[in-house]
Amino acid sequence: MDVVLGLQWGDEGKGKIVDVLTPKYDVVARFQGGPNAGHSICFQDKGFVLHTVPSGIFRDDSLNIIGNGVVIDPIILMDEIHAIEQMGVDVRSHLLVSKRAHLILPTHRLLDAASEKAKGQNKVGTTGKGIGPTYTDKIARNGLRVGDILRVDFLARYHALLSAHLSLLDPDSEVDDSAWLSAVEQLRQLQIVDNEVVVNGWLQSGKTILAEGAQGSLLDVDFGSYPFVTSSNTLCAGACTGLGVAPAHVGNVYGIFKAYCTRVGSGPFPTELLDDTGDRLRQLGHEYGATTGRPRRCGWLDIVALRYTVMMNAVTHLIMMKSDVLDSFDTIKVCVAYKTKEGKLIDYFPFDADEEGIEPVYKEFKGWQTDITSCRSFDELPAELRDYIIFIEQQTGVKVCIISVGPNRDETIIR
Ligand code: GDP
Ligand code: IMO
Ligand code: MG
Repeated sequence: MDVVLGLQWGDEGKGKIVDVLTPKYDVVARFQGGPNAGHSICFQDKGFVLHTVPSGIFRDDSLNIIGNGVVIDPIILMDEIHAIEQMGVDVRSHLLVSKRAHLILPTHRLLDAASEKAKGQNKVGTTGKGIGPTYTDKIARNGLRVGDILRVDFLARYHALLSAHLSLLDPDSEVDDSAWLSAVEQLRQLQIVDNEVVVNGWLQSGKTILAEGAQGSLLDVDFGSYPFVTSSNTLCAGACTGLGVAPAHVGNVYGIFKAYCTRVGSGPFPTELLDDTGDRLRQLGHEYGATTGRPRRCGWLDIVALRYTVMMNAVTHLIMMKSDVLDSFDTIKVCVAYKTKEGKLIDYFPFDADEEGIEPVYKEFKGWQTDITSCRSFDELPAELRDYIIFIEQQTGVKVCIISVGPNRDETIIR
């Protein structure tokens, strides 16, 4: 099993790369996160954003599975399936859903909003999809799972959890759950499986699996910039627990990063640019959230953070995205170390980046100032961009095997 995951704060371009790599695999599997994810895929002048369905769905021959580590909002999943079906794709025969994946209830969204409101200025800036409260219920052993919808007493269990949630919420909170319950009815018609048995069977019979991460490594609940993180393990290890696959089965780890950095929501971002350059990156890169439409915070590439996430995932192959967004810059900067308030240089991501008041130390590169979107081989790329890539390889110790030069499937250089 190979794994594809984001090495920054999400939105690195995982959807595009999974779609590009899918023809090499029999199965694409989502292992964590939920509808907080927004994975964009562009082909034949069409664009689509996937939230819960794995990004292999647009390739006829691939099977797709939603693993036990994922949290599912039935309304969002069913809406997504209907929209993909309208494009003429046979989703149901190519999609399997884990019995052990947890359900996002309508009240989980309300709890998410209430938690953010209570935090005030310190809010996480969540996507508001109920992700944190759903994983909280999972860990607290209160959650409802997809397999529960097949039980005769499902409604009683549902109402018990709903009442427990309502007792925590503002007494004026109103919940209209008719759409949710009807989406659950539709969810019952999908192929609901014991994913750990199915996936291990595939591995034994020699099928190839690509595990698709959501969010990014710096949003990992254990190793990201806590508490400004998501509520799941986004690192490679999460692919094992989120699918029921032992670590010994992990093969290649494809780490995806943008040629610069973005972040949505609150939390430390050492290389953030709050100036015209940041605005220019946002404009040229169309950096607005695929799920919430929020403007993404933008800044230069952070090699210190990248080295950390390469280490934490044991990345075997790097993939650089959105290189074309830097086409028109005359100077490009890369953060190679942080300077603390005391003037000390450090080369790791500190426990509390905001408290430490760190400042990035930059190395400058000459921009290539050439349109690279039609380049299809490494040798065609301008020398300045090749130098930039070689520097990243030296700093991380990992080869950049794919360079993306545009959002479309074919705007991709494979080395
Ligand atoms: P994901 O969440 O990691 O799948 O990434 P998103 O889909 O949220 O954000 C990536 C955005 O960049 C999408 O709008 C993609 O269509 C777009 N994109 C992906 N690769 C490239 C690229 O190489 N160049 C440009 N200009 N856009 C890209
Ligand atoms: P993809 O898969 C970027 C961020 C939110 C917030 C924090 C917690 O498209 O890369 P949550 O709703 O998960 O409780 O929010 O995590 N976040 C993402 N940022 N891309 C994502 O997904 C994200 N999913 C969550 O903005 O800061
Ligand atoms: Mg996204």
